[in-house]
Amino acid sequence: MIGILYFSSTGNSLYIAKKLKENLGGKIFYLPKYSGNGSEFEKIILVTPIYSFGMPKHVYDFLPKLDKSKELIVVQNYGGMVAGADYLMREYCTKNNLNLKSIYVVQMPENFTLSFSVPKFYLKKVLKKADSKILAVVDAIKNEKYNLPKKRKTKEKTYLKNMSNWYKIGKEFKTNENCVKCGKCIGLCPVGNISIVDEKIVFGDKCVACLGCYHRCPNKAIVYKNKKKKNRYINPNINENEIGQDI
Ligand SMILES: Cc1cc2nc3c(=O)[nH]c(=O)nc-3n(C[C@H](O)[C@H](O)[C@H](O)COP(=O)(O)O)c2cc1C
Repeated sequence: MIGILYFSSTGNSLYIAKKLKENLGGKIFYLPKYSGNGSEFEKIILVTPIYSFGMPKHVYDFLPKLDKSKELIVVQNYGGMVAGADYLMREYCTKNNLNLKSIYVVQMPENFTLSFSVPKFYLKKVLKKADSKILAVVDAIKNEKYNLPKKRKTKEKTYLKNMSNWYKIGKEFKTNENCVKCGKCIGLCPVGNISIVDEKIVFGDKCVACLGCYHRCPNKAIVYKNKKKKNRYINPNINENEIGQDI
């Protein structure tokens, strides 16, 4: 069986994972809940967003643990700029002696939107294009048309520096008067960084900047640096409750 491992906070990576499963078979696992090392699968497809020209912390922490004998295919997705993130992924897999076969990159709607809103017409345009790109990835995997990015200037230092500052984002989150303390943010945070203390939602110092709480709060009650009226984003083609599930 193919193991499709994914990390996703707003559903883009899950959407890609589901398309891959639909066309290639296999089973989908949410990385933060997955405790194995991939050895039970015939091959592994990792679907991950690009974060800070690198990868989410869960992906960075998982790859060194992955079974080195298993064929690994990576599908990265990004909102606006890959820079060297694909080559950085290649280098990191090589450094960890992984059996990396291919890396594909797909543009999806941007979700790092704390300071701006992406216009709706642009989101639609990106989503439409993504479908044909994902099908091209399916075709490439089926026909073993593998692809590894050529050497590029990577920004590993910048990436690691950014990662070490992600916790500060959580420190800038606050809830506003729309918060009904439903606890949804507490349940979806992949690192358990949110709690209720004295009947108030409190953000700790373990934030990994996925922005899942910010985008998926049903009342848009989580605000960043008191900025108002920014659109939230959830991939419109998936059932939001499936984000974080194994499928
Ligand atoms: C912390 C963070 C950093 C990001 N960094 C980048 C980046 O360097 N380049 C880029 O094009 N998109 C970046 N993005 C956007 C996401 O890669 C993109 O929207 C992705 O499709 C989100 O996937 P998801 O919905 O599965 O979480 C970033 C998003 C977050 C939350």
